[in-house]
Formats: sequence, structure tokens, C-alpha cells
Amino acid sequence: MLGIETSCDETAAAIVLRDQFGHSTIASNVVRSQLDEHAAFGGVVPELAARAHVTYLDHIIAQACREAGVSLDQVDAIAATAGPGLIGGVLVGLTTAKALAAALGKPLIAVNHLEAHALTARLTNNVAFPYLMLLVSGGHSQFVLVRGVGDYERWGSTIDDALGEAFDKVAKLLSLGHPGGPAVEAIASKGDPRHFKFPRPLLREARLDFSFSGLKTAVRLQAEALAPLSDQDVADIAASFQAAVAEIVAVRAGQALARFAAELPGTRPTLVVAGGVAANRRIGAALGEACAAAGAELVVPPMALCTDNGAMVAWAGAERFALNATDGLNFTARPRWPLDLPDMKVNHEAA
Ligand code: KG4
Ligand code: ZN
Repeated sequence: MLGIETSCDETAAAIVLRDQFGHSTIASNVVRSQLDEHAAFGGVVPELAARAHVTYLDHIIAQACREAGVSLDQVDAIAATAGPGLIGGVLVGLTTAKALAAALGKPLIAVNHLEAHALTARLTNNVAFPYLMLLVSGGHSQFVLVRGVGDYERWGSTIDDALGEAFDKVAKLLSLGHPGGPAVEAIASKGDPRHFKFPRPLLREARLDFSFSGLKTAVRLQAEALAPLSDQDVADIAASFQAAVAEIVAVRAGQALARFAAELPGTRPTLVVAGGVAANRRIGAALGEACAAAGAELVVPPMALCTDNGAMVAWAGAERFALNATDGLNFTARPRWPLDLPDMKVNHEAA
């Protein structure tokens, strides 16, 4: 299975094999990050991202085939992210996939990017359904019950900023550069996480949603009050922000696992973390504690497969292909595409 990913600022392609028992082999996984293109703007510029995808995608696909030692006519099918994401970029990847599918006479699989994140734990750890996923990336923060391929139930989302976005904004106002997550984490290790008591929005409410914009504003007001900031101020703010989000995420994970235990008695709860923020060690440690307290297993795929990549798209394509779920060449790219839409469902009668 060839997988193509172009929904944000990574141009990526991979060749992944799935055997009849659901075992995976990543034959290649090529990712070109566009950090340099966007660095001067402090964030991803959609138009520049789309142009860079046009420039590099063909080469990245050729490299993925070369590294896997396969030619394009040997793949079973072509999978590409068809949304949600920056629409210019999605169009580049999906159109390329359609052209390849048409020219090679292969099936097309239009992959929901969120499904690709959701199924990554099966690619890396062969996790069995059902499980709970926490997706925390630059564009999404949500708990999803993963019942099967195409069968998702969203239990909570952010009502404002995504968690990665909050990290990026805090990094920006502390002048730490982009992407902000790794920079905030690095500087936070030199700070005191208890120095500032930042708010934990929504935490007292019994719902599985997140809200990070009030926290971000509190961080901004604190930074403005202290300006000019010393290096220690920056480290303390970063550490205190990170402590706040780690607590929020861990408390919510505990609540989500309690719901899992109540709704799926007899199933050992598993929490799978996906998305770039999964790289954060402080958040990982807090989630580890929440899972230990709930008797749940925590699965965090390797970092390179948590951030956007082609292997997860190829894998989602392979899981769908195994169920005969392919798409027509008239499938249109979608800027928004919630996982729990009915059209995600695989028609098992066809399989
Ligand atoms: O999944 P991803 O690569 O792209 C999206 O689909 O959004 O996630 C990128 C996000 C960025 O907001 C980045 O700041 C954040 O993940 N991130 C982190 C860390 N590494 C990446 N956030 C916190 N701590 C990190 N170590
Ligand atoms: Zn993503």
C-alpha cells in the first residue's frame, strides 16, 4: 500500500505491507518537513505549504518506492489523506493519488487523516479493538472511542484551541520559535512548574471536552506583567503552563477511562495517544499515572509515527482495503471531516 500525506506542512509518502493476520511491515516512510519554508512567518502558511507539496511530492513518492524496493505497479492500492486539513495541500496529495490510481489501474483509498492517527497504534503495537484514543496535535484535541475500522465515537473535543496550538502560541509569546511544543518542553525543564498557578479551564465540569484559550490568555497576561522577561521567567512560565496542561490531560484521561470501564465492562481499557503532542514527556508521564490508576494500558507509538507521516496513511488504507473499502476517483477533498460521520463506516456487507 502506498500512502500519501499532505494535509499540513509535512510532505510524506510510505510503503506499508499488511498481512492477512493484520501484521504490518513499514517498507519505507519518507517525510519532508517544511519547517524552513514557514519559519519566518511563525506558523504554517497554507499557500506556501501547498506549493511545497507540489514541488516535492513526486520525488518523495519515488524515494518511498526506491527505499522499499518496489515499483508503483507492484502496490495493491493508493491511499492518500483526503481531509481534514489545509485544503490546498490535501488537494495536491489526493489529486496525485487519483492520477496514479487512474494511470496504474489501482484502487484509490481516500483516507481521513484522523483515522490514520487513530489506527497507528495497530500499525505499531497491533492493538486490538476497542480502545480509547487521545489525539493531541496542532489541529485536534479529542477523545475517540475506536470500535473498529471506520467505527468511531467522539467523546470530547476542544471547544477552542488544540493543545499543540496552545503550545505553539505560548512559544510564540515567549519568543521561542515554531513549532513551539518541543521548544516549550526544552525550556520548561529549567523552570519551576509550581511557580505560577495557571487556570485549568473546564476541569471541574464533568465533560470530556478541553478548553485551552483561557489558559493561553493567562500565560500572556503573566508574561506581559513580568516583561521584560528574564530567562528564568520564561522557564518558569513554560514549566507552569506545561504542568497545567499535563494535569488537565491526565484528569480528563482518568474520566474517559472511567467511562470506558462503565460502557465496555470486561474489556481491559487501553489508552492510545496520537498526534505531535504525544512527544511531550511531562504529558506522557501524567498520562502514565492516570492509566496506572485506572488499571489501563498506555500505548504511545514511536514519535516519528505520532507526528504526521505517510506510513499511518498507508496503514489506514491497508486496513480499509482489507475490508474492500475503496473510493471512487470522484471523491472530493474535505477541509473538515469529523471521524464520527456516518460515511466513515465500512460497508461490511461488501467486504
Ligand atoms: O501531529 P502533528 O505533527 O501535526 C498535526 O497534525 O497537527 O502535531 C504538531 C503539534 C505542534 O503544535 C507541535 O508544537 C506539537 O505537536 N508538539 C509538541 C511537542 N512536539 C510537537 N507539543 C508539546 N511537546 C512536544 N514535545
Ligand atoms: Zn496529524
